[in-house]
Amino acid sequence: MKSSVWIVDFGSQYTQLITRKFRELGVTSEIITVEEGVERLRTTKPRALVLSGGPQSVFEDKTDYSSFFDDPALPILGICYGMQVMGQFFGGKVEKGVQGEYGLAKLRCLPGIQVPGLPAESDVWMSHSDHVSKLPSDFSLIFQSDNGLTAGIRHASRPILGLQFHPEVHHTVHGKDVLSYFLNQVAGLRQDWSSKAMLETSLEEVTAVKGSKVLCAFSGGVDSLVAATLTQRAIGADLYCFFVDNGLLRPQDYHHIKLLQEETSLNIEVIDASELFLHALEGHKDPEAKRKIIGKTFIDVFEKKVHEFERSHGIKFAYLLQGTLYPDVIESISPHKKGGKSVTIKSHHNVGGLPERMHLKLLEPLRFLFKDEVRAMGLELGLKREWVFRHPFPGPGIGVRVLGELTRDGIRKVQESDQILFQELKDHKLYDSTWQAFTVLLPVKTVGVKGDGRAYEEVIALRLVNSQDGMTASVTEVPWSFLNRVSSRICNEVKGITRVVYDCTSKPPGTIEWE
Ligand code: XMP
Repeated sequence: MKSSVWIVDFGSQYTQLITRKFRELGVTSEIITVEEGVERLRTTKPRALVLSGGPQSVFEDKTDYSSFFDDPALPILGICYGMQVMGQFFGGKVEKGVQGEYGLAKLRCLPGIQVPGLPAESDVWMSHSDHVSKLPSDFSLIFQSDNGLTAGIRHASRPILGLQFHPEVHHTVHGKDVLSYFLNQVAGLRQDWSSKAMLETSLEEVTAVKGSKVLCAFSGGVDSLVAATLTQRAIGADLYCFFVDNGLLRPQDYHHIKLLQEETSLNIEVIDASELFLHALEGHKDPEAKRKIIGKTFIDVFEKKVHEFERSHGIKFAYLLQGTLYPDVIESISPHKKGGKSVTIKSHHNVGGLPERMHLKLLEPLRFLFKDEVRAMGLELGLKREWVFRHPFPGPGIGVRVLGELTRDGIRKVQESDQILFQELKDHKLYDSTWQAFTVLLPVKTVGVKGDGRAYEEVIALRLVNSQDGMTASVTEVPWSFLNRVSSRICNEVKGITRVVYDCTSKPPGTIEWE
């Protein structure tokens, strides 16, 4: 990424929201680790530096951060822990709080302080126990909390601002005004981020590989579709997309791939490996075992196909194109991840491991973008709205929606019930107001009555959620009449189903997929 604002991540849960908000304000930024920040500052200079919040306390952290503050012209914003680091460095005093401030608090502007758009008193989100109790000598107090604690400080002559609250969080009603105050009035930065600029930068990146053969493990989802369309625009026929049919897809997915083959100029080849996947999964009930088998089979099938293709066409692929997005990148650099403390809830099926195995270089033109930006880029590239706004669909597909052992009959039940749900969502104009919606076959039988006879058949669960990024989710509120209609159609039209239930669990504690 070109010269940008660096956000030094001290490990706050909110760090990626800072980038998001900056982009909404038209400014490019990137998240880096503390070590990277120290290293990079030896040779380059950012447009501004943000020191994020973090879970640690300045009383335990003895790291020397002085290199962040060496350059008097460098604009710096310290948020929460970042402000405490800054306060301590410049000679102020940080104290342990007796109670701390967590959640919503009132912010007061000191007399004479004018931040465009920010009222004299407003709601802000706080999450700290330590606080700056004595200001460093060159700083003045600009904001206070209703508990009388320091909530914002500004340097008298240098472009430095410290905030004890989190302006990046949605609950801080005027957070964007405060961030804009930093970017415009304190740091004096001009805007450099727009969807047009974003498209140009990504195009430049893929144009650089012109002349090489590029391979794409195409899923038809928005990320791989946008990445492939962008790349094809730059390198044309040197891009080859392979779509692996694992037999675990819904009718809408087969239809979608066919449409993309017919209506786009992408070169998409379908590899039918459904029998192989079903065979490999035979007898396996454990969700993690199923996920691993699907992932491994995918890699085996893909690798074999590509080698055959290279041999028969006399070519050699140099790059693997992936639709990796910024949240995945951030996750992989986050200090929590580096410390190895996070637990694996589910092994995600993706093409991890493929580039090394096949000696391919990675091409990830979307790696600095968030999902909604990828969608905006898709529209800018001329892709149809319904392709760009498709719901996410997991790599292991129906494999993790038929609970327990997979059978052909189980797959059929999920395919048919999902198709009913999909059609009804479209007909009721509810598809766009839910983030993800699907059906799951439960491994239980229940008694019902069909016609005049007793039925002892299986259960379908409906899962409809809203989410920003899949990390957390809430249940979508849909009308009862809609649920009634879907339930009645599934019981009537899907052979072997007598009962439909609605999953009303948020994430956490439930995950979105059932396995
Ligand atoms: P969970 O079930 O972890 O799902 O709450 C969060 C989001 O991720 C999708 N998901 C996957 N996507 N490969 C993917 O590409 C996977 O293995 C996978 N597992 C879950 C899920 O559909 C939801 O959108």
